[in-house]
Amino acid sequence: MSARMTNKTDKIPFYVMTPIYYVNARPHLGHTYTTVAADTLARYKRMRGFDVRFLTGTDEHGQKIERSANKAGKTAQAFADEISAEFRFLWARMGLTNDDYIRTTEPRHKRGVQRLFTELQQRGYIYKGTYTGQYCVSDELYVDAPEGAPCPDCGRPTERVSEENYYFKLSEFGDKLLAYYEAHPDFIRPESRRNEVMAFVRGGLKDLSISRTSFNWGIPVPGDEKHVIYVWMDALANYITALGYGSDAPEDQARFQKYWPADVQLLGKEISRFHCVYWPAFLMAAGLPLPKSFVVHGWLLFEQSKMSKSRGNIVRAETILDVLGADALRYFLLREIVFGQDGSFSFDALVQRYNADLANGYGNLVSRTLTMIGKYFDGVVPESTGEVETVTPEARTAIVKVGGLFDSLDFSRALETIWVFIAAVDIYITASAPWKQGAGVPDKVQQQHRGQVLYTAAESIRIITALVYPVIPDAAAKVWAQLGLGDITQADLKDLEWGGLKPGTKLGTLGPIFPRAEKEAITRMQEKEEAGLAESTAAATQVPSAPVAAAPVVAAAPAVAETKTITIDDFAKVELRVAQIKVAERVAGADRLLRLEVDLGYEQRQIVAGIAEAYAPESLIGRKVVIVANLAPRKLRGLESNGMVVAASLGEKGKPVLAGFLEDIEIGARLK
Ligand code: MSP
Repeated sequence: MSARMTNKTDKIPFYVMTPIYYVNARPHLGHTYTTVAADTLARYKRMRGFDVRFLTGTDEHGQKIERSANKAGKTAQAFADEISAEFRFLWARMGLTNDDYIRTTEPRHKRGVQRLFTELQQRGYIYKGTYTGQYCVSDELYVDAPEGAPCPDCGRPTERVSEENYYFKLSEFGDKLLAYYEAHPDFIRPESRRNEVMAFVRGGLKDLSISRTSFNWGIPVPGDEKHVIYVWMDALANYITALGYGSDAPEDQARFQKYWPADVQLLGKEISRFHCVYWPAFLMAAGLPLPKSFVVHGWLLFEQSKMSKSRGNIVRAETILDVLGADALRYFLLREIVFGQDGSFSFDALVQRYNADLANGYGNLVSRTLTMIGKYFDGVVPESTGEVETVTPEARTAIVKVGGLFDSLDFSRALETIWVFIAAVDIYITASAPWKQGAGVPDKVQQQHRGQVLYTAAESIRIITALVYPVIPDAAAKVWAQLGLGDITQADLKDLEWGGLKPGTKLGTLGPIFPRAEKEAITRMQEKEEAGLAESTAAATQVPSAPVAAAPVVAAAPAVAETKTITIDDFAKVELRVAQIKVAERVAGADRLLRLEVDLGYEQRQIVAGIAEAYAPESLIGRKVVIVANLAPRKLRGLESNGMVVAASLGEKGKPVLAGFLEDIEIGARLK
């Protein structure tokens, strides 16, 4: 039994994480890419029976965030709260399965970072000195370049800093790191990234400044509070502080013991130096084990360059979720881009993949097979007279191959393999033509033939569905239920074998899985994206207030006598629910509007509400309100509002007063 195997569950722990994202900008598809890859790996490992811990979160300290907050006229904390919530809500909306979400402004993190700093100090790896040189605020990187030189990494101007700093003796770790890389060829993957990192270390490591004094948005150095700890040391520590490092509580220590060292740390190639050089050196210095592997992926490009806020070429996941759904986005990102290499995003390619692989490929195979089982076998899985040599061996190969490919994070080839299998099943069905009545063939023989074809197709779909589940979980869950197999989240998908589908299984209710997308879907996404960008531009320039469309507030009902009565069924059509406000902010140029993000427990959504004149946004955070949850979405000031906040309307001006409860009430609860 491995040392990290727990007796309680007998499951092997598996710890995977993404980088934590800067809160200087709202999430875009680049962030979604890494997080979806991590989620897919986490789901796959859970499916294989591992005790998975999947971590993501936000990186909230440092000069870059402080400056962005100042620019937005907010405190750094308020600014970080807002953007961090956006990331968290997006991941929840996409149904991502992270087990924890760390914010570097949380006390548990601060405690752990200070413990790490003290540990390194006590072990003699930290000393005080003066740094005079260049600093790149955008990369939060000390740059070895002459005054006035641009950052060699990102090309932006660097700033001159001269500060008394604490230094970490990084120079002592060059040889140790190189020996470690040599001894662990899979420590950094792919190999091209490993080579780059090794070349960097071979070039010589200088001691690293690990504190700043010229600003204070960070974690203070213990015992010398005018210094804040360098943001990269602060941020990298999240991978252990989230497990409980730095805490003396037994449950935190147990969690840390169980999951550390991490199994897979995912990251984009631009931050490999921090992860594969500084982070292992900090861990070595602290006497802690190193992660088992870093998997470095390439960039998602849009309009030829890396998608990033500063380049202004971003696409938001929300745009795609609204039009094609989360599965389409997940599938595209993992199928289209070879993990490790750069790859391009375009709306055209997205819709093309969606139609070719999901609507016409998997979706169509499911719908034609299950419809025929409905038609010829009354919706009950038929008996098969035996295995089919053009399909069953393909299924067995796919099971073995796809598992290995997921394990090595080769998502595109895993999906390619599954789709080769889908094509083989399609060809088999077409060639066997179960819908044709052969001339002179007795009905019984004909039915047997149909039974064999449709059993083979349905069993193939079961296997395909289990294999694609980590990538397209919503669609897979639907198909599983349509196959009559119930709730996929409760299924044991560990050991897939041909023949698991039992003849006699009654199919569930059939329905479309991936309806074909029309060309117009592309325009809709492009328009949404442009509207979103126009909105942020408007916010930045503070357009003067203009008349606003009627606010989405339910006014108090006029006297009952004047109102036509409704039946209880009419009332039941209105879905009133308790929701908690997580984010509230003013809408630029609209004096009465607030943009809210509310949590319903089962989902998060955005509502634009006309309550700004009565409520300060900050007073609303955490407040529970009543919303009309099933109102058709509408756009206000370019923002989509999904629902209405219920309020009484007072006086001539209709001052809104939010409905609420005296008792503490569970979010998501329905009012009826
Ligand atoms: N806060 C640091 C990381 C600290 S981890 C201890 C940071 N944050 S970031 O917001 O800039 O996010 C960087 C990560 O987001 C990348 O490493 C990558 O995982 C993901 N991506 C952001 N833009 C991306 C692309 N255009 N393409 C692919 N991944 C991208 O660096």
